[in-house]
Amino acid sequence: MSVLVTGGAGYIGSHTAVELLNQGRDIVIIDDFSNSKPEVLENIRKITGKDFKFYQIDYSDRKALENVFEENNIDSVINFAGFKAVGESTKKPIEYYINNVSGALVLFDTMRKYNVKKFVFSSSATVYGEKNPIPYVETMETGKASSPYGSTKVFIEQILEDIYKSDNEWDIALLRYFNPIGSHESGLLGEEPQGIPNNLMPYIVRVACGQLKELSVFGGDYDTPDGTCIRDYIHVVDLAKGHIKALEKLEKERSGIFTYNLGTGVGYSVLDVVKTFEKSTGQKVAYKIADRRAGDLPAFYANATKAKEELGWIPEKTLEDMCRDSWHYIEMRSKS
Ligand code: UFG
Repeated sequence: MSVLVTGGAGYIGSHTAVELLNQGRDIVIIDDFSNSKPEVLENIRKITGKDFKFYQIDYSDRKALENVFEENNIDSVINFAGFKAVGESTKKPIEYYINNVSGALVLFDTMRKYNVKKFVFSSSATVYGEKNPIPYVETMETGKASSPYGSTKVFIEQILEDIYKSDNEWDIALLRYFNPIGSHESGLLGEEPQGIPNNLMPYIVRVACGQLKELSVFGGDYDTPDGTCIRDYIHVVDLAKGHIKALEKLEKERSGIFTYNLGTGVGYSVLDVVKTFEKSTGQKVAYKIADRRAGDLPAFYANATKAKEELGWIPEKTLEDMCRDSWHYIEMRSKS
């Protein structure tokens, strides 16, 4: 029996693939390399000493996907395929809805055809929208997301709710990620956005290594202790382990749809991250306070109790670990 990991060469997918292999599971990875590189697969093999089957396909290519289900004994799916850049999604909503929503529907239809009904979905804290108070709790109404990217997460969660209502043989976990950063401690896997990064940590590491001049801290006048935005940063390895716990829960349950926040429950400001990065890596991060970025919320973080109580998932890595590991990956890349 194998776990199908879609988008398994990507940032979170590759870290999750490592944890699945470390558990002794068989996995099959599909990825179209639209935002990842083939060498990631080699690095997954290097870290784990294990092999797996790989198909270079687009997950919305029905024929190619059916072939994967034909050729393998798949009994569960973890879906990381999809576009994820918030800013880009406002410029290319059609591409985002086609790839994320239509792609997911092809996947669900194919799963149904092959009677595979265990599914773990990478959702996002963005589904809580702008109106909910913090910390976010799973029972809150999901809101109107602030970007097409966020809307794709809201829609897919809704689609999965409907699928479960129509056929409660499905076992579904909706995992709402907060802000994943960090990388595998080996330095072999990490986050490498193409072009100028939009997210905070990829930007910080590029300033630290001299590729970018300075970080613009978006907004210094928010109603927060130091005036900068607060987020719940979560180490990608902890996040990956959350998927394993969720999958184990689905394997134990007869059926259900379960939602979990995957965050630490602790908020840090942008300046906290900059200072912690400097302290834990010894690298200087030049920054200036700039205008607010449209669409940013002043502060959000998780109520992380449910995942802890029901899954036994407790994030172990500190903000120092996250900063150090993010930097280690870049150092290793510059040496290779
Ligand atoms: N930031 C800067 N300068 C930068 C980049 C980011 O100051 O160059 C700040 C942002 O203003 C924000 C914080 O750093 O306060 C984190 O920003 P990111 O872009 O790293 O992450 P976001 O919180 O904007 O994004 C997260 C998730 C998305 C989700 C979104 C919803 O990564 O998946 O929240 O708001 F959709």
